[in-house]
Amino acid sequence: MQQPRKRCVMKLLWAIVWVFLLMENGANSDPQLNLLNSVCAQYNVPNSQEFSRNLNATFLKLREELVSGNYFATADQASGSSPTYAMVQCRKYLSPTDCLACFDAALSRIRNCSTVYGAGVVYDGCLLRYESTNFYDQSTEEGHSMNCGNQTALNPTSFHAAVGGLLNDLQVAIPRIKGYFAAGKKEVSGNITVYGVAQCIETISKSGCQDCMAVVYSDIQQCPPSSDGRAIDVGCFLRYSESPFFADNQTTDIAPFLKNESSSKKDALIGGLVGGIGLLLLVLAVFFWFRSSRSKKMEPRGDILELRGPVHYSYSDLNSATQNFSLENKLGAGGFGDVYKGVLKNGKVVAVKKLAIDQSLRAKADFESEVRIISNVHHRYLLRLLGCCSKGAELLLVYEFMPNGSLDKFLFGEKKGSLNWKQRFDIILGTARGLAYLHEEFHLCIIHRDIKPGNILLDHDFQPKIADFGLARLLPQDRSHLSTKFAGTLGYTAPEYAILGQLSEKVDAYSYGVVVLEIISGQKSSKTISDSDDEFLLKQGWSLYENNRHEELVDETLDRSEYDAEDIRKVIEIALLCTQASAASRPTMSEVVVLLRSKGSLNRRPTSKPIFVESDKKVQEGTATSNGSSVSNATASITELSGR
Ligand SMILES: *[C@@H]1O[C@H](CO)[C@@H](O)[C@H](O)[C@H]1NC(C)=O
Ligand SMILES: *[C@@H]1O[C@H](CO)[C@@H](O)[C@H](O)[C@H]1NC(C)=O
Ligand SMILES: *[C@@H]1O[C@H](CO)[C@@H](O)[C@H](O)[C@H]1NC(C)=O
Ligand SMILES: *[C@@H]1O[C@H](CO)[C@@H](O)[C@H](O)[C@H]1NC(C)=O
Ligand SMILES: *[C@@H]1O[C@H](CO)[C@@H](O)[C@H](O)[C@H]1NC(C)=O
Repeated sequence: MQQPRKRCVMKLLWAIVWVFLLMENGANSDPQLNLLNSVCAQYNVPNSQEFSRNLNATFLKLREELVSGNYFATADQASGSSPTYAMVQCRKYLSPTDCLACFDAALSRIRNCSTVYGAGVVYDGCLLRYESTNFYDQSTEEGHSMNCGNQTALNPTSFHAAVGGLLNDLQVAIPRIKGYFAAGKKEVSGNITVYGVAQCIETISKSGCQDCMAVVYSDIQQCPPSSDGRAIDVGCFLRYSESPFFADNQTTDIAPFLKNESSSKKDALIGGLVGGIGLLLLVLAVFFWFRSSRSKKMEPRGDILELRGPVHYSYSDLNSATQNFSLENKLGAGGFGDVYKGVLKNGKVVAVKKLAIDQSLRAKADFESEVRIISNVHHRYLLRLLGCCSKGAELLLVYEFMPNGSLDKFLFGEKKGSLNWKQRFDIILGTARGLAYLHEEFHLCIIHRDIKPGNILLDHDFQPKIADFGLARLLPQDRSHLSTKFAGTLGYTAPEYAILGQLSEKVDAYSYGVVVLEIISGQKSSKTISDSDDEFLLKQGWSLYENNRHEELVDETLDRSEYDAEDIRKVIEIALLCTQASAASRPTMSEVVVLLRSKGSLNRRPTSKPIFVESDKKVQEGTATSNGSSVSNATASITELSGR
């Protein structure tokens, strides 16, 4: 068997390249400080002195590692009551000086988070992260994101294909390369070349690196035909560009790592990489070049199909798919138009939404760019937009089809009472994760503005998928909240948005809180629980909670043995935190995710009562003059809201 020989050759080659990388000093110094991500945890540590001292010690250790020539390091102060863990990684094409400069920039950025439990900064050139718990083996988390350039490539079609080929090669090869790093390039046509780099955290496992690469590879698909793009997750980094961002002589030959791992011993001879240095390398490079071009012919890749942007469907196809938009095929009527079930020619079942948005209000160009943005949002808990179609004044959106329909059916409709507690909790958590992605992780902050059970769809496994996000952006920006219908649904709309038109992510947090109460109680927010008084769900929830009778809120159809009283209390508290009157005191959706996942009871209690305007339709619809009590109600609320 030739395996040991291969390893030996690889080691030697790596060593050579390393030496060169280390020797290179920053002739054209560029620490690549284009910021990709910067987060501070939301919570301060209680014993900040000790934590800060430990943190300083770990940062010092990291810096020493870089000074001594490393490109990746971890350091921790794990003992004591305030443990700290930190990690730094530079792209290996940087010079040691640039690596250090990138670290210093990241450090000064991370320092202006207050003393919080964790923080992270990712630049093009490096990353720095610290936490109060060990995170070294984390490969994927919800924080993955991408960042596409705003220029279009010179030759979009062939560029797209070349990017696809190069990045796919990188994602396959990286987990197999020692040190989890490679830089590669591919010629597009004539004198255009695409450059790519992939890197994993060195402390994750090979399969962790694979998982992470799968995530960033999928994210970055949305960038072409942008001339450059980056995608990151906690365990890895992927970047491509039309312009070279590393020197030519730092290219890695990844061909040897692309072979099927279980291939025969004939293939086992292959191994190595090339920096364009030395005869040995050159000979090997030529050899591998032959191997790789041969192997590529033998196994064509089928990934090009996934690389498309939003698909443009033809109107006639959608028309026949939905049987002329027949009543039979109608799935429902949403805030932005009717939705129809359709079966495409290839047998794929889809949901087609006929947008009822006044064309005069919104230019067609805007529609195209919004659709492009929405179709770029890929998340497990967000309904996928497959494509669109516009014909004359008609705008159609094509979505994936969700067999179980919307949550409202399961809460208030024909399937009422059929969800158990685990399913309900999964929906509560998944919805929060979807919203957190829209607000904080996608490269634009998308505020949904119309979170309600009708917009939360359930897949075959009863996992939630939020629908209709991004569509509110198609409405005119300057509408007055009092004189026109706002983009929201009565009963779910945050008071500051309904009354003052103040829009922030916390508007979604509020609606989410209301929906959570509905999921727990199986009651509509706009309906009273007991007929004897006029208490609406939110008010009822608050007063039951205040009197420690919150368990009375729980849906009677839920089996008592299914849930833990503490869990129910926690989820109710989270819902009440989300619906507090002051938007500022509501948690962000990523905090909600953390709270939902935390064990034990919350260390944070809802303190301020919600404002109860949702029962007062007159106020919300803006005909505030017709009824004296609405006016004073609204005035009182406005005072309270603006006093935050
Ligand atoms: C790579 O090329 C640059 C010039 O582009 C040169 O300064 C550097 O020394 C080269 N490094 C190696 C390892 O050959
Ligand atoms: C840690 O370092 C920062 C910046 O150098 C400094 O402001 C802070 O006081 C240090 N903390 C402790 C506890 O020494
Ligand atoms: C954080 O630091 C960076 C520079 O490192 C600075 O530009 C930025 O304004 C600071 N942010 C805050 C909130 O202080
Ligand atoms: C592209 O983005 C850069 C900053 O990232 C900005 O300076 C430039 O003006 C943008 N170009 C266009 C055409 O939007
Ligand atoms: C090479 O690039 C130049 C501009 O940089 C362009 O004018 C020329 O057409 C290109 N040649 C080919 C073969 O693409």
